[in-house]
Formats: sequence, structure tokens, C-alpha cells
Amino acid sequence: MGKDATLLVQGTGGVALFGLQFAAALGARAIVISSSDEKLARAKALGATTLINYRDTPDWDVAVMKATDGEGASHILELGGPGTYDRSIRSVTSGGKIVQIGVLTGFGPKPDLARVQWENADIIGVTVGSGEHFAAMNRFLTEHAIHPVVDRVYGFDETPEAYTYLRSGSHFGKIAVKLSGEVHA
Ligand SMILES: NC(=O)c1ccc[n+]([C@@H]2O[C@H](COP(=O)([O-])OP(=O)(O)OC[C@H]3O[C@@H](n4cnc5c(N)ncnc54)[C@H](OP(=O)(O)O)[C@@H]3O)[C@@H](O)[C@H]2O)c1
Repeated sequence: MGKDATLLVQGTGGVALFGLQFAAALGARAIVISSSDEKLARAKALGATTLINYRDTPDWDVAVMKATDGEGASHILELGGPGTYDRSIRSVTSGGKIVQIGVLTGFGPKPDLARVQWENADIIGVTVGSGEHFAAMNRFLTEHAIHPVVDRVYGFDETPEAYTYLRSGSHFGKIAVKLSGEVHA
């Protein structure tokens, strides 16, 4: 992905915000969809260039197309699963890439792949990268002074509360559980 890319990320959780930070560091365009205007404002401060509230605009794929003059996104981090993947497929540009990472809305009906074929798009599954990828990522993080967005840090004994908070979806970025030592918020 280079500076001419348009990245679309879904929501403002840990994966989405890291994607946004990478896109911003590259100088690429970043589209963020979120259920919250307040979170969108925070995403803008991190470098998001197009903000779409998917509660107010459930047909956010149409908004993505409008915002990109009908081109669509060149890279999409697909995090939602059945609640999002058909709209992702309708948001991808010709020759674009959909990176299948998460299934936040659960497992369910298969996407309609006809448009993937029509657009010569790729769907890339990601579980984990190689050690080489990890080293390259860390070099990039250092070079661009990128720090993860951590919403809250819990002590190990508070792990159930951390999961409850995660499930609430009210966080912005990552939730951390400290395995030992002092807790620093
Ligand atoms: N493949 C891998 O290697 C890998 C690695 C890490 C995570 N994952 C998976 O990737 C997904 C994201 O992980 P995460 O840690 O970033 O999760 P997370 O922090 O829990 O993300 C939650 C956020 O996702 C957004 N969201 C939920 N439903 C949505 C929908 N229908 N449309 C758009 N956005 C929606 C919401 O953002 P707003 O509040 O802004 O609306 C919510 O706050 C999970 O399924 C996780 O299991 C996979």
C-alpha cells in the first residue's frame, strides 16, 4: 500500500485504528466508518480523511463510492463479517484488495462474490504474518513514531471487567491487560 491508496477500516477498535495510523503515516487516504460521531472525531485527529457514521448511514458503501467519486477503496480491512462484507465488496475499487481479518458480527451467510470477480478484486485472508513481516512492521512503527491507541489498561485480576468493557464496544482502540507489575492508564 502506498500514498495513492484509499484504505477503508470498519469501526474504531484496535485493528481498525492501527490500520488508520499506518495509512496516515503513508500519507494515504483513510475512510473510517463508526457508530459514533465522537469516535469519528477522534479518528479524524489520528488522520482519517473521510468519516461515515454507519448508524446514521447504514448504506455506507454508497457513501464510500460518493466520497471517492465512484472509484471505491483500494484496500479494505474487513472486520465485521456477515454484517459488513457485502458492503465491503460493493466498496472496493477495480483491482482492489479486501483483507479478511475479523468477524465481529459473527459467522453467517456467504458474501455475493460476483462483484469481486467483476472488479478483478482480491480477497486476502490474514491470521498472522511472518517474522519478517513483524520486523518490517516494527521498523515502520519506529520510523513513524506510531504508538498504539490504548483506551484502558486493566490489572490481571480485572480481566473479566476488561472483557465486559470490550464486549460493550464503547472503547476506542485497544484494551490492555497487564500481566504483572504496576498498572499505568
Ligand atoms: N486475523 C487476525 O489475525 C486478527 C487479529 C486481531 C483481531 N482479529 C479480529 O478482528 C476483529 C476486530 O478486532 P479488534 O480487536 O479491532 O476488535 P474490537 O476492538 O473489539 O472492535 C470493536 C469495534 O468494531 C466496530 N464494529 C462492530 N460491529 C461493526 C459493524 N457492524 N460495522 C462496522 N464496525 C463495527 C465498532 O466500532 P465503533 O464503536 O467505532 O462503531 C466496535 O467498537 C475481531 O473480529 C477480531 O477477532 C483478527
